[in-house]
Amino acid sequence: MDTITCIKTRRSVRKFLDKKVEREVVEQMVELAKWAPSWNNCKAVRYTVVDQEENLKKLAKNWMAPENIHIVDNAPLVFVVSNVKKRSGYERDGYTCTDKGDAWEMFDAGTACQTLCLAANEMGLGTVIMGTFDEEGVSLWLDLPENETIIAMVACGYPEVIPNSPRRKEVSEILRYQA
Ligand SMILES: Cc1cc2nc3c(=O)[nH]c(=O)nc-3n(C[C@H](O)[C@H](O)[C@H](O)COP(=O)(O)O)c2cc1C
Repeated sequence: MDTITCIKTRRSVRKFLDKKVEREVVEQMVELAKWAPSWNNCKAVRYTVVDQEENLKKLAKNWMAPENIHIVDNAPLVFVVSNVKKRSGYERDGYTCTDKGDAWEMFDAGTACQTLCLAANEMGLGTVIMGTFDEEGVSLWLDLPENETIIAMVACGYPEVIPNSPRRKEVSEILRYQA
């Protein structure tokens, strides 16, 4: 698939076939996601994969927001995407040279998630990024290192339904040039 096709055909997929995603495939996806750019190449994004059925059901029931319960309940796997704190947006000595502080963690996780989703699309997999869940509950359940913060989750599987593309704005609505 060429890059333009991959960008344009990636959709948020919320219904998956009852088909396992092999760990070898997961590793190929992360191998591609690791090429996402990051703040000062700090490489602070981490991926924790939940792929056991009983654990996915537990995650869905206990910690996902209502709109995401059915997605996780039926997904073959979920990437919990976290970021090592105080790396994105910071120099090695802890100095932060922008007004945005640790908001760059979100940015780095965003580039990583998008790269992961595009890699998945190329491999015939569907994904959806999810932002609403009980972060503290999931962190404790997964026993994540204390210096990591969960940014998002990405459900992934072979698509059952690929939704139509939601409307995008026209370029003229989002692009301006300095006068
Ligand atoms: C940061 C972020 C958080 C999102 N959170 C959710 C979510 O919690 N649940 C969900 O179903 N979709 C979620 N989405 C998916 C968006 O709804 C989706 O990307 C948007 O409607 C455009 O559709 P498309 O991805 O198919 O182009 C999220 C997307 C982003 C980038």
